[in-house]
Amino acid sequence: MAVRTILTAPDPRLKAISQTVETVDNNLRRLADDMFESMYAADGIGLAAIQIGVAKRVLVMDLNPKKGEKEPRLFINPKIVWTSDDVAVSEEGCLSVPDIWEDVERPAQIRAEYLDRDGRLQTLDAEGLLATCLQHEMDHLEGILFLDHLSKLKRSIALRKLAKAKRLKETG
Ligand code: NI
Repeated sequence: MAVRTILTAPDPRLKAISQTVETVDNNLRRLADDMFESMYAADGIGLAAIQIGVAKRVLVMDLNPKKGEKEPRLFINPKIVWTSDDVAVSEEGCLSVPDIWEDVERPAQIRAEYLDRDGRLQTLDAEGLLATCLQHEMDHLEGILFLDHLSKLKRSIALRKLAKAKRLKETG
C-alpha cells in the first residue's frame, strides 16, 4: 500500500469523467487500499480515485476514522437509484479543496447501488452524513467539485482563497 498525492483544484484532471470498472480484481483492490491509506493520511472521510489521478469509478469512505474502530467503506461503480424530495444542507469540505468549508444543499435521503470488494452488487439506503458524503464523492466521478454547487460569487472567492494558500505554501 502507498500514500498517493491528492490533486487539488484547479487541477484539470479533477474535471475528468471517471470510467466504469469492468473487473473487480486484485489490481482494483490494490488501488482501493492505496486510496484508503491516502485518505487516512490526509485525515479525510472520503476520497474518489480521480483525486489521486485515476479516472475509475471507485470511492472510499470512513465516517468514523478517529474514534478507534475503523469503518472502511468501498464503493465501486456507485449509482444513485432514488433520491428523496426533501433536501438537507450540510457544510462540506474536500481534500482537493483544502481548508474551505461551505454549505451545500442535496437530497436528504438516497438509495445507491454499487459493487463491493468482491464485485457483488449491494444496495444502500443512506441519510445524514453518509448520504451527503456519498453524493459528494459521486460528484467527483462526473468531474464535479462541491464548489460547483455554490453561487458564482462564492465559488470565485473560494478559488481565490485556495490559490492564495497555494502560493503561500510554495513560497514557504
Ligand atoms: Ni471531495
